[in-house]
Amino acid sequence: MSDTSAPWWRSAVIYQVYIRSFADGNGDGVGDIAGIRSRLPYLKDLGVDAIWINPWYKSPMADHGYDVADFRDIDPLFGTLAEAEQLIEEAHRHGLRVIPDIVPNHTSDQHAWFRAAVAAGPGSPERERYVFRPGRGPGGAEPPNDWVSTFGGPAWTRLPDGEWYLHLFAPQQPDLNWQHPDVRAEFEDIIRFWFSRGVDGFRIDVAHGLAKHPELPDLPPRRNPDDGRPRRYVEHPHWDRDEVHDIYRAWRRVADEFPGDRTFVAEAWAETPERLAAYVRPDGLHTAFNFDFLMSSWDPKDLRAVIDNSLAMLGAVGAPATWVLSNHDVVRHVSRYGRRAARRWVANEPYRPEGPVDLDLGTRRARAAALLMLALPGGAYIYQGEELGLPQVEDLPEAVLQDPIWERSGHTDRGRDGCRVPIPWSGQEAPYGFSPDGATAAPWLPQPADWAGRSVAAQTGDGTSMLELYRAALRVRRAHPALGDSTLTWLDAPDGVLTFTREPGFACTVNLSPEPHPLPAHTSVLLSSGPVEHGLLAPDQAAWLTR
Ligand code: NOJ
Repeated sequence: MSDTSAPWWRSAVIYQVYIRSFADGNGDGVGDIAGIRSRLPYLKDLGVDAIWINPWYKSPMADHGYDVADFRDIDPLFGTLAEAEQLIEEAHRHGLRVIPDIVPNHTSDQHAWFRAAVAAGPGSPERERYVFRPGRGPGGAEPPNDWVSTFGGPAWTRLPDGEWYLHLFAPQQPDLNWQHPDVRAEFEDIIRFWFSRGVDGFRIDVAHGLAKHPELPDLPPRRNPDDGRPRRYVEHPHWDRDEVHDIYRAWRRVADEFPGDRTFVAEAWAETPERLAAYVRPDGLHTAFNFDFLMSSWDPKDLRAVIDNSLAMLGAVGAPATWVLSNHDVVRHVSRYGRRAARRWVANEPYRPEGPVDLDLGTRRARAAALLMLALPGGAYIYQGEELGLPQVEDLPEAVLQDPIWERSGHTDRGRDGCRVPIPWSGQEAPYGFSPDGATAAPWLPQPADWAGRSVAAQTGDGTSMLELYRAALRVRRAHPALGDSTLTWLDAPDGVLTFTREPGFACTVNLSPEPHPLPAHTSVLLSSGPVEHGLLAPDQAAWLTR
């Protein structure tokens, strides 16, 4: 049974607002704070506990806000600091908590610190806040090491004065040097700045990237030299290094200075659940996204192993699990599950769509996955539009693609724009209520011509819609004492079926096999992802039961 006195974040359902694409209040084709404020009643009615808002800070938008030029101000594209304060206040009045993104691994190349570093030249103290080095080879013409940018190409860019600087992402996102005391002090101050304005926590971008090996050695081989098999990194020179936890211990102390259970969620890509659990020890961060769950294929063994390992490893440090199916960086799960290939998605490799997508299949599975996720112990994240069953938009014209991955990959990887298409709210044609009547610009990415039926208005009141399934599931989850934090117990089930109970008196069953199966013992069906006929759970269907 879940403990009602436990902090809210142990069982919260948090809705991810990708601000550019959520709701456009001023009609310029880009989502903004005014848009979010106007949609707070929708979020309250959906039944979520909090919102995570992707970066809203002043930014040249080379990576849509993940290149921050000023962490203490809002970008004019999104609004003003005063509006952000109003949003926090109004969200609280709606019973919703607010979690902005914080981006500590890098700044924008337009941040005052980086501009000063460029101007001050090699050897200057200003350069020590970032990672500047001379190059290798004749004339220093080669990068200082072989690190690669997550967006493609080398992780180093050379300035006209001959020095190179590190950027694990785009060249417009220089990495900070977290061994420098200024960097530590600055971020603790930024966090205090926003906590004092009432935010309830932060989502920490690239939480696993801040600590770099002091000697910046070349990457170890990805494959085992003896047998050529993929090799687990024992120690990586820039990902998930142990030193990173020291930074978060200090952040935890800052969060604890403020009343009201402030919280952190880490975007940490760790190789194993053990490594992930290290981020959420009692003196560290509170939660971390469970990307293993997101990357799992629609396969009962894979999913069950991920669930068991995650609960065991997180439980060992007393942390709750944080389940996630989609976000603004990955292919929407209706489209992932709509491909029969049961391949597990490998982190750091682009998702390559294999074969045609079957959206009906993907939607059935996504409905079942929603009931699975929301019945698991811990908290969960919902990425805007997943409650509408939006698929990945895979046919955006090349001319409109904006993700830096598209350019940096030499046009081999279309990047993440397909999961960032603006939300359809109402109406028969684009912008489907995303922008107000009389908007001066079209949405920043074109919406598909066939999205009218997927809008919030079209789905509202339709008991078969994805939106009403999410609303119903969140209603049950709020009311049922078994759901949220605590534990689960697996029941014996036919091959391909996952069934677990939660106390008191709740069961969730998911049929991942190709055959229908009788529902396990129950007294009533609370909710199901599709019609239950003759007491049978169809393939790719899930149900919540009272026992
Ligand atoms: C992870 C964010 O989720 C992603 O959108 C961004 O591009 C990188 N971090 C770099 O900040």
